[in-house]
Amino acid sequence: MNLELSPSVKYWLNFVHPTLMWALLLLSIYAAYLGLQVQRTRNADGEEKKELIKGRFNVRHHQIGSILLALMVTGAVAAMAVTYINNGKLFVGPHLLAGLGMTCLIAFSASLSPFMQKGANWARVTHILVNFVVLGLFAWQALTGVGIVQKILSQA
Ligand code: HEM
Ligand code: HEM
Repeated sequence: MNLELSPSVKYWLNFVHPTLMWALLLLSIYAAYLGLQVQRTRNADGEEKKELIKGRFNVRHHQIGSILLALMVTGAVAAMAVTYINNGKLFVGPHLLAGLGMTCLIAFSASLSPFMQKGANWARVTHILVNFVVLGLFAWQALTGVGIVQKILSQA
């Protein structure tokens, strides 16, 4: 397939995914904070619980989580598209594999939402475990991703 894009557009497309993913890394740390506040609210009682409920952490966590899910899937697919446009192939390496792995994991963990809302403890435990693996993989992606950016800059 021959995509008629100018060389400068092709070059600048390379920076969309890294920028988006750094923003999403910060957003996922915020999501983790909100999730831990949800847990704190559920375990609190009395006055403290009343105060924490006012923070609407469950609603905010679900909203931020949904945005994170949508942008992470889109960002990963877009990165593969840009890699293909620029190189005519994908590079099957740690960044691609960990990226696809964490994309599947976050979809899986989001799909537990209706079960958590019904109060299923197994779903909560799985959600938390899976998401902390996602956060770990995200930190790894940030490191390997910066390596790829440096390679692109040095080839320019
Ligand atoms: C970095 C990613 C995420 C982390 C670290 C995280 C963490 C957590 C934690 C700690 C809880 C509290 C569980 C409890 O009550 O004990 C929670 C609950 C929940 N999470 Fe996440 N989460 C993440 C992403 C997501 C995503 C992507 C979605 C869905 C789109 C989501 C939806 C929910 C829902 C619906 C609950 C239950 C809230 C409630 O009890 O009303 N989370 N999460
Ligand atoms: C956090 C910082 C990240 C940086 C700086 C980064 C950087 C990059 C760069 C420069 C590329 C080459 C393609 C392009 O130029 O657009 C790339 C490819 C890719 N990235 Fe990332 N990335 C990061 C995070 C992620 C995350 C979180 C995921 C998955 C959710 C991901 C999935 C991918 C995939 C699937 C590719 C295509 C790999 C290939 O075929 O070689 N990246 N990344």
